[in-house]
Amino acid sequence: MIPMTVAELAAAVDGRLVGATPEALVTGPVEFDSRKVRPGGLFVAFPGEKVDGHDYAAGAVSDGGAVAVLGSRQVDGVPMVLVDDPRAALGRLARAVLDRLPALTVIGLTGSSGKTTTKDLIAQLTVRLGATVAPPGSFNNELGHPYTALQADADTRFLVLEKGARGLGHIRYLCEVAPPRIAVVINVGSSHIGEFGSVEAIAEAKGELVEGLPPDGLAVLNADDPRVRAMAARTAARTVLVGEAPDAEIRAVDVTLDDRGRASYTLVTPAGQAPVRLGISGRHQVGNSLAAAAVALELGMPLAELAEALGTLGLPSTRRMDVFDRTDGVTVIDDSYNANPASTTAALHALAGMGARRRTIAVLGYMAELGEYERDGHVEVGQLAAELGVDRLLVVGELATPIHDGAVAVADWGGESVLVTDQQAAVAELRRELRPGDVVLVKGSRYRTWEVADALRAEAARSEGGSR
Ligand SMILES: Nc1ncnc2c1ncn2[C@@H]1O[C@H](COP(=O)(O)OP(=O)(O)OP(=O)(O)O)[C@@H](O)[C@H]1O
Ligand SMILES: [Mg+2]
Repeated sequence: MIPMTVAELAAAVDGRLVGATPEALVTGPVEFDSRKVRPGGLFVAFPGEKVDGHDYAAGAVSDGGAVAVLGSRQVDGVPMVLVDDPRAALGRLARAVLDRLPALTVIGLTGSSGKTTTKDLIAQLTVRLGATVAPPGSFNNELGHPYTALQADADTRFLVLEKGARGLGHIRYLCEVAPPRIAVVINVGSSHIGEFGSVEAIAEAKGELVEGLPPDGLAVLNADDPRVRAMAARTAARTVLVGEAPDAEIRAVDVTLDDRGRASYTLVTPAGQAPVRLGISGRHQVGNSLAAAAVALELGMPLAELAEALGTLGLPSTRRMDVFDRTDGVTVIDDSYNANPASTTAALHALAGMGARRRTIAVLGYMAELGEYERDGHVEVGQLAAELGVDRLLVVGELATPIHDGAVAVADWGGESVLVTDQQAAVAELRRELRPGDVVLVKGSRYRTWEVADALRAEAARSEGGSR
């Protein structure tokens, strides 16, 4: 964080000083976990139902060295900045810090799948151009977002932020906290459709990202997703279409995949063409890498350097298309971080591509947050697995049963689907089943298949690094 006095800080969040020295300097970090507080830092106390941050306020000062505590009720002997709503205050503080950093470019991205992946790709490119702050993992909500923004300081040139939404207005709020100059919309799918009600509502919410752009900003839009393309009408900023559509200004042509599902393509841009060879697996990384390329070109990276840099990109956030070989000759695709129909479709295509001459096994768990679309979403995924010719399907847990139903309903499928009650049963089944040469995909919503992926990793040591 940039250094601010307690008085400046209180003014930024519209707070009232109680027991705090106005001139005391806060240098950061700003933390809401009291164990992470460091000397010079600010502790933010959230009132909670189970845990009340105010109970840790005194310790954050005496043990952690916090200069002050931002909270909503007074704690005896603790220097405080009092506000009504510490969450909102955290957002206002982040905004105040960013307003004091005119040399900083905020890059915001959203989409139904691939935000974290693309955020990581963009940050690996921008760091070549200047100091970059990007959060680890997701950090895309009203807490993680300002928390990350507050790590920017006078040296930071680029802040790369993923903006998530569970409803209308969420992204608009995140853009008030950290207004992007460059916005990237990856796709509009059905994740969180349970909360939104319809794909149209999801598009409406995601489009809030481009609405707030300044006229000198840039909206990077996926040319291959009609709902994203249509967002061009919702922004005052310049737009650039990226994708494989013929009219995309930044385009991939002649896409081929190697036996690990890594794409090569010719990158076509207004500045010329260059060959690209990605080191990360999955056809869907073509679109993600094009979005990252558009950002890097906008920020002035020369095309030749960009094409070379794209080939070096990894996937630092865990459990996303992490492909690794075991010493027993089994290849595992750990994509177990999360699942919805779109990302499962992408992963099944990757599995089928990598398994063209190998036996393929998909271990699929329940996909959460699909609301009314829940049954159909699962059925369609099972159907696709069968249509792609996946050899064996292990469906984990009763909730995921419609995946099994969808697969076995495909009449000419030569494969087999097995329902297992839980992850331990899936691991036991795999232990019996796996043969050298097999390719196994593991995918489900959050913790629902993590154990399976971890067991596959632990059971035979890696003989080759993954794509991280
Ligand atoms: N462009 C894409 N299209 C479809 N699936 C994708 C795409 N990019 C990444 N994925 C897959 O989607 C899943 C989630 O990826 P990632 O964590 O990058 O998305 P996210 O949008 O940040 O998700 P969350 O909303 O949970 O934060 C992973 O399985 C990943 O491989
Ligand atoms: Mg994410």
